[in-house]
Amino acid sequence: MSTVDSQQRVLSGMRPTGKLHLGHLHGVLKNWIKLQHEYECLFFVADWHALTTHYNDPLVIEENVLDMVMDWLAVGVNPGSATIFIQSKVPEHAELQLLLSMMTPLGWLERVPSYKDQQEKLREKDLETYGFLGYPLLQAADILIYRAGWVPVGADQVAHVELTREVARRFNHLYGREPGFETLAESAVKKMGKKASRMYSQLRVAYQEQGDQEALMKAQALLKEQQNISLGDRERLYGYLEGSGKMILAEPQSLLTPASKMPGLDGQKMSKSYDNVIALREPLDQVQKKISTMPTDPARVRLTDPGEPEKCPVWQLHTTYSDEATREWVCDGCRNAKIGCLECKKPVIDAVIAELEPIQKEAAQYEKDPDVVKSIVAEGCEVARDKAKETLQEVRQAMGLSYW
Ligand code: TRP
Ligand code: SF4
Repeated sequence: MSTVDSQQRVLSGMRPTGKLHLGHLHGVLKNWIKLQHEYECLFFVADWHALTTHYNDPLVIEENVLDMVMDWLAVGVNPGSATIFIQSKVPEHAELQLLLSMMTPLGWLERVPSYKDQQEKLREKDLETYGFLGYPLLQAADILIYRAGWVPVGADQVAHVELTREVARRFNHLYGREPGFETLAESAVKKMGKKASRMYSQLRVAYQEQGDQEALMKAQALLKEQQNISLGDRERLYGYLEGSGKMILAEPQSLLTPASKMPGLDGQKMSKSYDNVIALREPLDQVQKKISTMPTDPARVRLTDPGEPEKCPVWQLHTTYSDEATREWVCDGCRNAKIGCLECKKPVIDAVIAELEPIQKEAAQYEKDPDVVKSIVAEGCEVARDKAKETLQEVRQAMGLSYW
């Protein structure tokens, strides 16, 4: 797969540190399911990442890896369209992180906002570790090793993708200048055929001499169309176009996942650390119980007390689960004290159960036959590994490690 095609490649990872819940479903997984139809997708279990914060609690990780993949499959992540794998089964990620660490300024890692933030937030954990400091670079390696063009992440991770871009740029700058680059690039130009070669050269001049952005874009589009050039040549041509060396690592972009509007049972963001979640595998009678006992607008002590949906966490669930007519019924019924809170919760309970029931049925199938899941993952790991090896080989070569 070439750099150009990989601009259509999506990569994302999730840490296996707990049971998945409705927040994951509405925030991340539904987005993945949509993306898998639009791009070539790689989704992985970030078990090494989990160790950066859970190094003294490794069993948590072990327990959650398989369950997490089962949940992905149960909600509709399709191994026919997406590659599903486990980070630690593709050790190439670690080698790339090591190699990148040689040229990554320490300050870049110390300045990543999540570094200090998380240390503050997770005070109970000792995060003064080398692994934790280096974790954004591991993430950069995860992304760069597949030359992913798009990385779906939440707002808190955008800085990591930005770091990834900077690392790629620095890498290309340092190591993209292979000996004889100009000659190799010129001969790659010729290999495109007469017409395309001439166009490429003209557009390149227009960009380099007049800074013509449109010419740059046209030339990139032209390269994208070329079927018969090798990966190496293609990268040379991209680099030659912009006046840099060979482009070995591709700069990714973040694909910002809209913040999940899924509230937890207390109206805060749904999160394990707030203990306000409905797990995807939550027994359905418990779902009913949890929602039934959710707090509501405190003004509604008695049925005859009017309330205000905006002050009620149940209302937020209605905004996710209910249609217009039901929402109107809620607003009117609440503000004019026409309905009781339990009555108001009923459609939400029904909707959540209707959403979870088929997911749980699917998950139960996989639980009965975990080998199916393991073989899906094994296959994904193999596919991922092949792609990772391709990049790593070029990186080794660029860094002078391909002797003998
Ligand atoms: N760091 C991400 C998180 O904590 C998980 C992750 C690891 C990831 N590697 C990635 C996400 C690469 C996107 C791309 O949620
Ligand atoms: Fe909340 Fe509905 Fe009760 Fe109003 S009627 S307070 S929206 S649960």
